[in-house]
Amino acid sequence: MKNKVKELLEQVEKFTSENLDCVEEFRIKMLGKKGEITQLFEDFKTFTAEQKREIGKDLNELKIKTLEKINSFKELLGKSQEKTTNIFDMTLPANNEPVGSRHPISIMKNKIIDIFKRLGYTIAEGPEIEDDWHVFSALNFPPEHPARDMQDTFFIESNPDILLRTHTSSIQVRAMEQTKPPIRIICPGRVFRNEAISARAHCIFHQVEGLYIDENVSFADLKQTLLYFAQEMFGKDTQIRLRPSYFPFTEPSAEMDVSCKICGGKGCNICKGTGWLEIMGCGMVDPNVLESCKIDSKKYTGFAFGMGVERMAMLKWQIRDLRLYFENDIRFLRQFGTVV
Ligand code: DAH
Repeated sequence: MKNKVKELLEQVEKFTSENLDCVEEFRIKMLGKKGEITQLFEDFKTFTAEQKREIGKDLNELKIKTLEKINSFKELLGKSQEKTTNIFDMTLPANNEPVGSRHPISIMKNKIIDIFKRLGYTIAEGPEIEDDWHVFSALNFPPEHPARDMQDTFFIESNPDILLRTHTSSIQVRAMEQTKPPIRIICPGRVFRNEAISARAHCIFHQVEGLYIDENVSFADLKQTLLYFAQEMFGKDTQIRLRPSYFPFTEPSAEMDVSCKICGGKGCNICKGTGWLEIMGCGMVDPNVLESCKIDSKKYTGFAFGMGVERMAMLKWQIRDLRLYFENDIRFLRQFGTVV
């Protein structure tokens, strides 16, 4: 018995631990129901009075030392555990919360705006629910023009004078009515057309419109401005081509193409073998439009242009289906990276 007490005492003195589970294990091993010290106390009961006197003191001491050791460890480890759970450790790396990214339409819209801002253009906006005057009449659309047709335009049933704008050119009209030249604005916005939804068409899309009005603004200014834009957007070696076209609000009117970046102008399936991609409509503001907005067309001239943001993004990132922009599939959106 004496040796056993001595041996256990050594074990207790040597005992050390870094976690509470081990301390509890040690307590059970020593003082549990079948613990070694408990067992010694059982044996002690069978001893004679003389044997008890000889060993009793050491045995008691062993029990007290064991309890002290266990309690001191419990206290120490309990406290340090509290520390890690309750105290904020500034040196730990932060949790990696997923952050959203801008929608590709917003990224493209901002890119377009940034380029024109560098040329001194300011942003102008207008209402999505418009009247006939700002969307059509002031822009020189004849009354029978097909764009006014119910097939194309969403009208408000109770009042056909109120409609959802079909283009952001309506913002030009508001700007010309409200401010005197010189005017140099860029007008981003959402537009609506009654189209069947497909990979190439949607009933809601985005446009950016530009307008520059001053004395002596010429077609050469238009061409130079749009060349600068195309090269900033698609790269310094980008070429542009202007094809004659027709819009009621510009005269002359043109459609602008950029050289296809994918094939370098040789012809591929993106440019349908032509080497060119159409990106916008443009032209010199029709004097009728200036007069409708009470601007003297003898003194002032100007140019305007308008482009589809979805289409620009499709060309820039080779997106093949318009519907992807509206589905908000996170796998699609994540490809456009971080906040711009
Ligand atoms: N508003 C035209 C459209 O929706 C785009 C456009 C063409 C705007 C020529 C213009 C322009 O300012 O000059 O298709």
